[in-house]
Amino acid sequence: MIVSVILAAGKGTRMHSDLPKVLHPLLGAPLLEHVLDSAEPLSPAQKVVVIGHARQHVQAAFPARGITWAVQDTQLGTAHAAHCGVEAILPVRDEDPHVLILNGDLPLVRPETLKALLDEHVRSEAKVSILTCDLQAPAGYGRVVRSKEGFVVGIVEEKDADASTKLIQEVNVGIYVFRLSVFKEFYKRIGRENAQGELYLTDVVVQAARAGRKVATFKVACEREVAQVNSRAELARASQLLRERILDNYMLEGISIDDPASTYIEKGVRIGLESRIYPFTVIHRGVEIGERCEVGPFAHLRSGTRIADGGSIGNFVEIKNSTVGIGTKVRHLAYVGDGEIGAHVNIGAGTIFANYDGKAKHKTVVKDGAFVGSGTVLVAPVTIGSGAVTGAGSVVLRNHDVADGDVVVGVPAKTIKRN
Ligand code: UD1
Ligand code: CA
Repeated sequence: MIVSVILAAGKGTRMHSDLPKVLHPLLGAPLLEHVLDSAEPLSPAQKVVVIGHARQHVQAAFPARGITWAVQDTQLGTAHAAHCGVEAILPVRDEDPHVLILNGDLPLVRPETLKALLDEHVRSEAKVSILTCDLQAPAGYGRVVRSKEGFVVGIVEEKDADASTKLIQEVNVGIYVFRLSVFKEFYKRIGRENAQGELYLTDVVVQAARAGRKVATFKVACEREVAQVNSRAELARASQLLRERILDNYMLEGISIDDPASTYIEKGVRIGLESRIYPFTVIHRGVEIGERCEVGPFAHLRSGTRIADGGSIGNFVEIKNSTVGIGTKVRHLAYVGDGEIGAHVNIGAGTIFANYDGKAKHKTVVKDGAFVGSGTVLVAPVTIGSGAVTGAGSVVLRNHDVADGDVVVGVPAKTIKRN
């Protein structure tokens, strides 16, 4: 049986922010969500998250994930946080579960890596296992000190390291598996005699090793996976790495990304086969794009947007909370907010869906086959009937629905031709 414990009680001092570190967004999702998602495929019997700093906010951000919340009132260090988490583990018969402990600021670790760590832990019958990585630039991580025979004999924090220890390139990633009983036994043996005056989780590992308990290591090959987020600069770096990973996956699946360097697609976006994303495009979380669509350059698709197959969204177009039907074109300089656009519609250059009256947002419906002329302003709530036409520069006032097949022009728009 395995239980996961995520450490997320720290303030994130180095972020210089009122927002707790684990709530800082990374490609549309809070840091903590990325960590929860990497551990999810291991199907832990219980998911514990340790919170402290601004804990109500952290809790409120994850209402429905089946989390056991554990509170660490004062942040005395990672071992103390882990201890608070471990105390919240519900006893199951007389089992001694494997406890997977993850720092809450490691958003890029893949589930496959966690599985490999756990498999190795079980296979080698270790009491403790730690994930390590060889880094070109190991600064900021705890260094793994090994004996001549290769056993772990120390994990030394950057702040406690002397010059020669700093040269060690193998680092402690911040992900551990402990036998519950072993964690409890060796937690009692650690102290706070270190540069930060904290209870270090790494010391629990080292105490167990010194007492002759089997400590296994699993080395992750990919440096990118172990990126931690302590500062805003590291957050931006993690965002870049994750963005590249997401874009690579799209391309592998059969979606064209013309210029990955200038394309920003958040977590949780669906894009259909043979679609093509042009440069300088921003696509937010939850957006769905069908097959054979074209998006961009310079398009901005915000949350709640669904583009059906064959849609074409061109430059300087912003779409928010709207559906766009099959084969519909919104090619140039438009804002579509709270819209429902049918199939094979043409939205002319410069069209604005005026969805906000200063108090509330309203909906605009444009039915199949309609032709919205350049520079039209559609003041919501309003409906443009199927096959209807609005003339260039027309302003269709709220509640002045245009009937199917009618043609309207002018300011305010008047019907010049009835179907
Ligand atoms: C930690 C490790 C270090 C490792 C690095 C990489 C220790 C002592 N050091 O250092 O060896 O290389 O991670 O990821 O563990 N937290 C709490 N309560 C606390 C303190 C921290 O919940 O009292 C949480 C933080 O919110 C964070 C995580 O624990 O999510 C790690 O804390 P952080 O301060 O980032 O540790 P590092 O200094 O990076
Ligand atoms: Ca960290």
